[in-house]
Amino acid sequence: MTPQHNLENLKKSAALKAVEFVRDGMVVGLGTGSTAKHLVIALGEMVRAGMKLRGVPTSQETAALAKQSGIPLIDTENRWEIDVAIDGADQVDPGFNLIKGGGGALLKEKIVAASAKQFIVLVDHTKQVPALGGAYPLPIEVIPFGWGSTAREIEALTKSRVVLRERNGAPFKTEAGNMIVDVHLARIDQPRDLEIALNQIPGIVETGLFVGRTNVLIVGTPQGVQIQYAPRI
Ligand code: A5P
Repeated sequence: MTPQHNLENLKKSAALKAVEFVRDGMVVGLGTGSTAKHLVIALGEMVRAGMKLRGVPTSQETAALAKQSGIPLIDTENRWEIDVAIDGADQVDPGFNLIKGGGGALLKEKIVAASAKQFIVLVDHTKQVPALGGAYPLPIEVIPFGWGSTAREIEALTKSRVVLRERNGAPFKTEAGNMIVDVHLARIDQPRDLEIALNQIPGIVETGLFVGRTNVLIVGTPQGVQIQYAPRI
């Protein structure tokens, strides 16, 4: 087991490597979570040193940190062109497919990743798994209307336990006003097929499966930072 403070260092080392992909004048999609936080802070330092960047934040939390760090943000309710999006993940499989959404920001994160020319993912080595699922549940954003029925459909499809995410004894609400259900799948061998099947269920807004989206994976390991390029896409 890698102690938590060491994992934090590994996340930071991955983030510091990722900023090397950012060039003057770029529009950068800014991820959410403890790994992305290191990225935003590092980009803020680059802006203060004179680099011209504009950010697209994937959450209010990230927007607040970006503003505090001096990164100009572009109007998010608009049509944008993102040069590079950089974000963390909860799990990554050997095909660079991801589970995301541990922090509940998966919807904006997926929109930003999908509209970026390049999507860079930052993880520490403990998040690399032979197959997605198992220890980490798959978050799915669902609209509150009939959420129980949507959950039942997900249960029927996946034959897995579906748990409504709560915070302080009440349903967790996303920034879009939706709910999250966490699906406890033993093992996701065919993430693309699962994503397609889940998207057929009415009431699902978006899933935390990011399939075939990662261009570059940056892994913080105790032996140093590794950069891996996706074999295809
Ligand atoms: C936010 O909803 C998530 O997708 C995060 O990007 C993911 O959970 C990784 O978070 P950490 O960097 O905090 O582990």
